[in-house]
Amino acid sequence: MPASGSFYLRTYMSAVTHLDVSAIRKDFPILAQEIHGKPLVYLDNAASSQKPKQVIDAITHFYLLDNANIHRGVHHLSERSTQAFEDARVKVQQFLNAADSREIIFVRGATEGINLVAQSYGRKHVGVGDEIIISALEHHSNIVPWQMLCEEKRAVLRVIPINDRGELELDAFERLLNPATTFVAVSHVSNALGTVNPVRELIELAHRRNVPVLIDGAQAVPHMKVDVRNLDCDFYVFSGHKMFGPTGIGVLYGKERFLEEMPPYQGGGEMIRTVTFDKTTYNSLPHKFEAGTPDIAGAIGLGAAIDYLDDVGMDVIAAHEHELLEYGIAALADIPRVRLIGTARQRASVLSFVLEGVHPHDVGTILDHEGVAVRTGHHCAQPVMDRFGIPATTRASLALYNTKEDIDALVAGIQKVQEVFSA
Ligand SMILES: Cc1ncc(COP(=O)(O)O)c(C=O)c1O
Repeated sequence: MPASGSFYLRTYMSAVTHLDVSAIRKDFPILAQEIHGKPLVYLDNAASSQKPKQVIDAITHFYLLDNANIHRGVHHLSERSTQAFEDARVKVQQFLNAADSREIIFVRGATEGINLVAQSYGRKHVGVGDEIIISALEHHSNIVPWQMLCEEKRAVLRVIPINDRGELELDAFERLLNPATTFVAVSHVSNALGTVNPVRELIELAHRRNVPVLIDGAQAVPHMKVDVRNLDCDFYVFSGHKMFGPTGIGVLYGKERFLEEMPPYQGGGEMIRTVTFDKTTYNSLPHKFEAGTPDIAGAIGLGAAIDYLDDVGMDVIAAHEHELLEYGIAALADIPRVRLIGTARQRASVLSFVLEGVHPHDVGTILDHEGVAVRTGHHCAQPVMDRFGIPATTRASLALYNTKEDIDALVAGIQKVQEVFSA
């Protein structure tokens, strides 16, 4: 398919440490446009990334030639679409280095993956007075499902605090762990601050007490190599649309022994083995958790996104983005009245800042007029904003196709904001 056949991708593969960004950008036609008469500078990747032609082509190819429902058909198209869907599952398995493709459950996104674990594993194992630990850095999607579970079960939500840099306090986590702890759910990378959490250490500490851990990898998978067996996490979730795949598809990885004993999340077609009015028996993994017709084209598009990332190389992407981030941090530090929010020593992709005297929404609106797309607000992480005593930030978030020129445009845009507000 398109990804491995691309001339540009073969070029990147030979470049171990350097990313040929101008070649990459040709794969993302959406970037080559003007907004308000200015070249588009897309710095809202933490919200959703753009899609390369290879992903768009894979989806188009599916609908043009292979489209049919999966698993149930004996006809040729159904066999082809089933094969393409299950091939995508194997790609995800290899991408995460999971032990078995049965451990890969297709869901709508990180949010649905977390809700699945909370409602299935959580409702079975969490009881009155039990404790669930999350962190002060979480996206609302890794807070609210646990709060709902705690409310229902009369369990208690505990929160790992962060320091002024926006880093998790590991000592505090150790102190929070106690015999009542039944589950830990923490993000790999913070969407609001970009902090890369020490998830391996967290998992090890929790496992010493036999407490399972879910990692929310929504902001990690587009930027770094993730190896679920090396991390030894029990569950890992992410969304396709933040890693150059389509919207509407995401992944829940779970260790087989957990998934096997968990009850289904939703009932319907596909997740059953036999149905009578007296009793239903459930399908084997992974189908037990995939009720109804899934987003077949979405899974195939996600598979193409994985091919794309594999061909470029996660190490090369991480090195490129690290260089850009350092450049951005230095550039923003030079602008008077700009304060970076979140200065963690381990960071990925995110430049979150406030500009003294100007509301972030005004910053975002003026930047948009300069062609620069950023996100402003609380980034679905209101507790993070509360921790820093601010209502909102402006967030520029990077991806593999961004350049130093993009950062320069951001800086010029901020200077423009300052001119407008000092006039
Ligand atoms: C860290 C993190 N977790 C979870 C999510 C939720 O992702 P989705 O809305 O794709 O389910 C996001 C989205 O921004 C996120 O940044």
